[in-house]
Amino acid sequence: MNLVDLLGISRLDEDLDRLEVSLCRSVRTEDPFLDEVAGHLIAAGGKRVRPALGLAAAVSGLGPVTESVLLGGVAVELVHLASLYHDDVLDEAATRRNVASVNARWGNLVAIVAGDFLLARAAGIAASLGTEVAGLLAATLARLCEGEVSEVRTAFDPARSEAAYLSAIAGKTASLMATACRIGALTAGLDRGHVEAVTTFGEAFGMVFQIHDDIRDVVASDEELGKEGGQDLVKGIYNLPVLLALANPATGPELRAMLGAPLDGPSRDKARAMVAGSGAVALAIAAARTYADKAAAAAGELGEPAVAGALANLGYAILDELPA
Ligand code: FPP
Ligand code: MG
Repeated sequence: MNLVDLLGISRLDEDLDRLEVSLCRSVRTEDPFLDEVAGHLIAAGGKRVRPALGLAAAVSGLGPVTESVLLGGVAVELVHLASLYHDDVLDEAATRRNVASVNARWGNLVAIVAGDFLLARAAGIAASLGTEVAGLLAATLARLCEGEVSEVRTAFDPARSEAAYLSAIAGKTASLMATACRIGALTAGLDRGHVEAVTTFGEAFGMVFQIHDDIRDVVASDEELGKEGGQDLVKGIYNLPVLLALANPATGPELRAMLGAPLDGPSRDKARAMVAGSGAVALAIAAARTYADKAAAAAGELGEPAVAGALANLGYAILDELPA
């Protein structure tokens, strides 16, 4: 998924190139070792979804893409990267973005401290953008942690409720997408009505994005994912497609008997196939569509028609990439 292509806003390409330069500069340090570790996942690529949303939010109100708008995107991307450094430690992940994860290459201690370093740089940039942006990013960081902790607390629990799942992904993913959009609008100086509309858009789109990601963990190949598939099942993170397959009387009992403990490779593949064959993917897509509807309604309130139209379509566009 290339969000900029899906958005179809050609001028964002140039702004994202400028942002990339600023992002690389933001993690530079005198210490060559920390320099390498802090730049590891930036160099590995990434879709820059959150900065692209921030830029789109700015231009959706005909705001200029100023240095402050770019720095807002950099701060948000640094928080996202830091959360991945820490998440890969929690998940004991071996790969990320088709390269070795930071923890796999340098160990957990270095991954945690380098993640903290990225957060420190994000905080410095946010402070330079004013107290509202700094306070917002700090509050969002707390929501990320709440989401992640609630996910960890329900690990290996096949009785995890759909409500618990939705609340966890609202914290760990949708909150930062909402903040990416909000900071884009704030730094572009847009009016309050616009700021609220892009925030609502970002929160709803974030829900679509995470459900999409969780469906891909079941149906996509390792190559497509840039990491090992089925890891949520292995690590006991029972996401929406899994919960829906568990609720299906035909597949639920057999699947439930397999879950509740870590899975080896063959059991993981079997569980993945059961979820994929249960009709749960189509149900999860339908649930995600309700959030795409919310995102589209919020985008409908935005001023610039071409950008509003592109944002309104974005949730549906990523869902259309999934196998029906
Ligand atoms: C990746 O999602 C992880 C997140 C969206 C959030 C992780 C949050 C924390 C570790 C809390 C601490 C935050 C900071 C900023 C230090 P995923 O696990 O669904 O995706 P994956 O399969 O790519 O790992
Ligand atoms: Mg993870």
